[in-house]
Order: sequence, then C-alpha cells, then structure tokens
Amino acid sequence: MDLKIRGKTALVTGSTAGIGLAVATLLAKEGARTVINGRTMARVEAAIDQIRKTTPGASLVGMAADVGKASDIERLVKGLPDVDILVNNAGIFEPKPFGEISDADWFRFFEVNVMSGVRLSRAYLPAMIQRNWGRVVFISSESALNIPAEMIHYGLTKTAQLALSRGLAETTAGTGVTVNAVLPGPTLSEGASGFLNSMAQAQKMDAAAVEANFFKTIRPSSLLKRFATTDEVAAMVVYVCSALASATNGAALRVDGGVVRSIA
Ligand SMILES: NC(=O)c1ccc[n+]([C@@H]2O[C@H](COP(=O)([O-])OP(=O)(O)OC[C@H]3O[C@@H](n4cnc5c(N)ncnc54)[C@H](OP(=O)(O)O)[C@@H]3O)[C@@H](O)[C@H]2O)c1
Repeated sequence: MDLKIRGKTALVTGSTAGIGLAVATLLAKEGARTVINGRTMARVEAAIDQIRKTTPGASLVGMAADVGKASDIERLVKGLPDVDILVNNAGIFEPKPFGEISDADWFRFFEVNVMSGVRLSRAYLPAMIQRNWGRVVFISSESALNIPAEMIHYGLTKTAQLALSRGLAETTAGTGVTVNAVLPGPTLSEGASGFLNSMAQAQKMDAAAVEANFFKTIRPSSLLKRFATTDEVAAMVVYVCSALASATNGAALRVDGGVVRSIA
C-alpha cells in the first residue's frame, strides 16, 4: 500500500530507540524525509546507521535536542523551520510511589511529555494549516485512561496529551491538517525491556516469566497477553501520518492490545 507521503518532511521526537525509532524507520521506508531526534548526536547517528541498514535509500536528517528544554526546541525549530508531519513521541516513564514524586519530578515529566508537544505544535502547526496539509500525532498511552497507581505523574501527562491533541484538532476544522493521539499499551521498547529486565533481576526470574506474570497481575485486562512490538505500534502511527488517514482527526486511537476495557 502506498501511504502517499513520499517527499514529506517528518520529525519524530525521541526516535533513537523504541517506538520512535520504529515509526521513523517506517516513515523513511515510505519515502518521507525523516528527522531523527534524541538528546545526543552519538545516539542520533547510531539510529541513522541502523535505519540505513534496512532502508538504504532513506532520506534522513539528524537533530540532537532535549525536547524537554525550551531553548533546545528553539534551536531545533531554527534548524528545521518547516515540517509536514510531527510525531510527538519522546516521553519518559518511571514507577514511583505518589508520596515520593517531588515537585521537580512533576515539572520534569510535564516539560518532557507535554510541553515538548505544546512548543513543537506552536512552531509547526500554523504553517501546516497555511499549506492546507499536515499531520500531528501525539504518542500518548493506555495510561492516559487507566492511570497507573505506580506512576500517577506519568498518567497525568498522558491524559494531558489527549486534551492537547483534541484541542489542537479543533483548530484545524475545514483544513487538510489532522491532529490525533495514539495510545499504545505495553510495548517492548528499549525503555520497557530495561524495566522488564530489572524486574526479572529483582524477582530472580527470567524475562518470559516476568512478562507472563505482568499480564496476570499488573495488566490482567490485556487481550494480547504479551508486549506489543514497536513495529506493531508504528504501523498504526504511520497510517495516521499518511495521506490515506485524511478523515481521521481529533481521535484517540488505541493500539493497546485491548488493555482498556471500554469500547468508546
Ligand atoms: N513502551 C511502552 O510500553 C509504552 C506504552 C505506552 C506509551 N508509550 C509512549 O511511547 C513513547 C516512546 O516510549 P518508548 O517506550 O518507545 O521509549 P524508550 O524506548 O525509552 O525510548 C525513548 C526515546 O525518547 C528519547 N528521549 C527521551 N527523553 C528525551 C528528551 N528529553 N528529548 C529528546 N528525546 C528524548 C530517547 O532518546 P535518547 O535517549 O537518545 O535521548 C529515546 O529515543 C513515550 O511517549 C511513551 O510514553 C510507551
């Protein structure tokens, strides 16, 4: 299937690993000029090398920036004044009991997970609307709906992304621009496998047993009963980024393995 995004410029924040890397790889395969972002140039270059191995003709640009910092975003936007597709993917998560989440933690989570998307949308959305074509996608989470007791600060930022995404979509009415949120469930990204391995070490179990236990006790409503792969999530995200998804706007789309029980 041709997703009709050849030659479009796509920025995927946090695309040196995990879901972001899978999304960037698929966008590049579809012929988009894809901008790879992470906090260091070393990780950005390693990701570019990795994508080139599977997609030799890929059009790739590397831009290191910490999207949790206003000054880095300003520099990124100066170097890349226009994008057609913006995927607000960069995000952090860390389990912590509510009482131990400091003010600094709350603000850090808000800066990285929410303000990055606010600032980048403010920079790029007006020109998309003017050109009458554009795609903004927020990578939220099932945790936006099932707020995890073990990381309420994370859940809050993921719910905030849904409000932001829907609100911005309202500003695109009657144009060829769409703004949507995608809600992955547990996904075997670099971050999640680190989390799984440390649980395995702590519980003196192998990773497969920890995964089975995770779906028995922590996410029992999962219908998939395993972690999704980053490619499974990327397929949904890249479809939403495509020209084919022109009638999908203001939506919160789940690729969560059925973890969220509601059907609305
Ligand atoms: N994995 C899951 O189970 C899951 C489930 C639902 C939703 N999500 C969401 O999916 C998104 C990606 O998660 P993931 O699990 O794929 O992550 P991951 O494997 O931990 O990778 C995180 C990526 O974000 C980048 N990053 C982190 N902080 C950054 C910052 N301040 N500025 C720029 N880049 C930054 C990292 O790059 P560098 O380290 O190179 O800077 C890396 O490329 C997040 O928004 C997360 O909330 C994940």
